[in-house]
This record gives sequence, C-alpha cells and structure tokens, in this order.
Amino acid sequence: MDYVYASRISSLQPSAIREILKVTADPSVISFAAGNPSPEAFPSRELAELAAGLFASGAASALQYGVSEGYAPLREITAARLREKFGIGSPDDDLIIVSGGQQGVELTAKVLLNEGDTVVCEEPSFIGALNAFRSYGVKLAGVPCGERGMDMDALAQRLSAEPRPKLIYTIPTFQNPTGATMPAERRRLLVELAARFDVPLLEDDPYRELRYEGEDAPALKSLDTGGRVIYCGSFSKVIAPGIRLGYICAPKGLMQKLIVAKQVSDVHSNLFFQALVCEYIKRYDIDAHIGQIRSLYRRKRDLMASLLHKQFSFTLPQGGLFIWAELPQGLDGFEYCRRAAAKKVAAVPGASFLTDERAASRAIRLNFSLPSFGQIEQGCALLGEALCEYMG
Ligand SMILES: Cc1ncc(COP(=O)(O)O)c(C=O)c1O
Repeated sequence: MDYVYASRISSLQPSAIREILKVTADPSVISFAAGNPSPEAFPSRELAELAAGLFASGAASALQYGVSEGYAPLREITAARLREKFGIGSPDDDLIIVSGGQQGVELTAKVLLNEGDTVVCEEPSFIGALNAFRSYGVKLAGVPCGERGMDMDALAQRLSAEPRPKLIYTIPTFQNPTGATMPAERRRLLVELAARFDVPLLEDDPYRELRYEGEDAPALKSLDTGGRVIYCGSFSKVIAPGIRLGYICAPKGLMQKLIVAKQVSDVHSNLFFQALVCEYIKRYDIDAHIGQIRSLYRRKRDLMASLLHKQFSFTLPQGGLFIWAELPQGLDGFEYCRRAAAKKVAAVPGASFLTDERAASRAIRLNFSLPSFGQIEQGCALLGEALCEYMG
C-alpha cells in the first residue's frame, strides 16, 4: 500500500549521522561519529549483581505497571542529589523520571509548542532535539554558538523580533556538537533575558558531570527565580544509555502537563531499570564511578587532541564527548567526511547540526569516548591523510 504520511513526520529527514553510522556497521571502520559512551564505563558487574538480587527477592513490583511520574525512591534520590550537588530544584519544582533526556525534550515540545511557533536554539545544536521540535511543525531560529556558548546579543535581537519565540533551547554545558561551555556570567545574562522577554528556557544538561578540568558553571536552573527553567538530565552518560533513563525537573504546574504527556507517550519508563538504578545509587558510590569515567575520557580527549592539533583547528572542550574541529577555509565538512569514510574512519559533518541542514559548514564533530586508545591513534592518522589528500 502507498501510505500517506502525516506532515509532522514527512518533513523529517533521516539524519546524516544515521547515514554515516551505516558505514560504521563495517567493523573495520573506526568510528568517531557516534555519541556513545565507552562500554568500559558501564557499571555492568554492579548492575548484574543488583539485578540478580532484585529477581531473587521477587521482582514483582519492578515488573508491574508503575506511575507515570516514575519510581518514587529514584525520584527522591535523584532530586536530593541534584539539589545537594548543583543547587538544582526548589520547593516549587518537581522531578519525574523519563525515558532518557531525549524524551524530556520531546515532552517539553509536546506540552509547550504549537505548529508555527518559533524555538530559539544554538546554531549548531543537538539533532535529536532539533528533530523533536521539527516534528511539532515549529520554526527553528538558530543563534550562533561560539566557544562561550550562545551569543547573547544575537539572542536579544531574536527575542525582540516578532513573532516572539515560544521557547529557548540550550545545552549550556559541553554542548553537543561544539563542546562549548557557557561561562557563569553569560548564564546569568541568559536567565535575565529569558525573564525580560518572558520566554521559558529548556536546559538540556546530559554532560554536566563529565568535566575534565576547570570549575563547574552554575546550572541555569539554579539561577532561575521565576520558575522559567525546565531542566533535563540523563543517566545515559554516567550509567548507560541502553537503560533509557533520564529526568525532568520543572515547576509543579507545568509538571502536571508533562506527566499527562508522558502517560500518553509510554505510560512510564522501564520500572525494573528505575529500581536497579535506585539501588545502584544507594549501595554504590556513583560519584566515584563518575570520577573513573572522567579520568578515562580525559585521557582519550587528550590523546585525540594531541594527534589532531597540527592539522585541525579546534578549542579543547573542558568536558563532554566531542571535539568540534574546523577544516581549513574553502573545504566542506560533508565532502571531507565522505573522503574520510572511504578511508574507513567516520566523523559527522557539521552541517548536520544546523537548523538548515543544507547550509554549508567546514566543521566536523569527532567523538573520543567510544573509540579505544589504539583506534584514536589509527583514526586520527587516517583523518590526517584524508585532509592532506582533500587539500591536494
Ligand atoms: C544534548 C543532548 N541531549 C539529549 C541527549 C539524549 O540523551 P538520552 O536520551 O540518552 O538521555 C543527548 C544524547 O546524545 C544529547 O547529546
């Protein structure tokens, strides 16, 4: 049958990342393309032990339906940890468990956006979020993102223009794809601008705890006094992405709508894994575990940076999973990634992260968490060869 697709889905293109990831199905290809954590960073032994214990003690409640808000002990322990470590969440907020940060972004879009609304986001930005917004038929207004995050003058201009944007979406810490982190001063300005123009701010923060050097910058959520910031976090990068667990911390009134939206989407997130993650946090030292992940990724980042710096221009990210490298003037990121893939090394062209994916970009995004140290060495050598050949 010839299906006639809904416009919300027919406007979405399979992302360039997916296309390039197809190349990575070939095991001989070194992939710097995905955004995956390293399997070495999963607490697999601990989770296996806890899972066996849960089954042995009769896992009936963890295998039963649950409430859409999530497993209460996990909500409590997560809210307490965010409050104590990062000052995130006030008595006017609530926290629910969602199926990954991606669902947090999607539910926020579902609750706040109508077709034709404008969403301001960093340019470039995370494809998963851009596609979530696109699927609601909104217009994306990109604001340039440099090494200190979103440009505040350009944002102020955009917010003064009509129609007034309905939402500001930002990844202020170790941004995907640029690795940029917004300094504290700029964060204050951003929260002030959102207040002045009365626009909600969606803070997408899955990388906050993957800092390799420098001081933590305050979460926008911790600076907000007007109930304007919706905070999305994730267990994907600090425990494992396959468990599909994240959280939203947002003002209570808005949360009621998010809960109804979640009920419609998937009833609730995987309850067995919620119980497992809760036990993990109670019985083990998650901060020590994150410390180990940081030390592993810091070494991988440093190795990749040391191998790339002669040929590529980039700012060393202070955390996160990516190096955003610029090719010399006149070269194109797409063409370069095609040539690199032919040499069996995969990277993502910068244009894939733009609000207009057809626009040109000479940037590429390189992931350093997933490849082994050996693959980083080999892959960077191949990237160098591909660049030399492309430059002629
Ligand atoms: C900026 C950003 N937000 C959200 C996500 C979604 O993560 P998850 O749904 O696995 O929590 C990602 C994943 O890479 C991301 O980079």
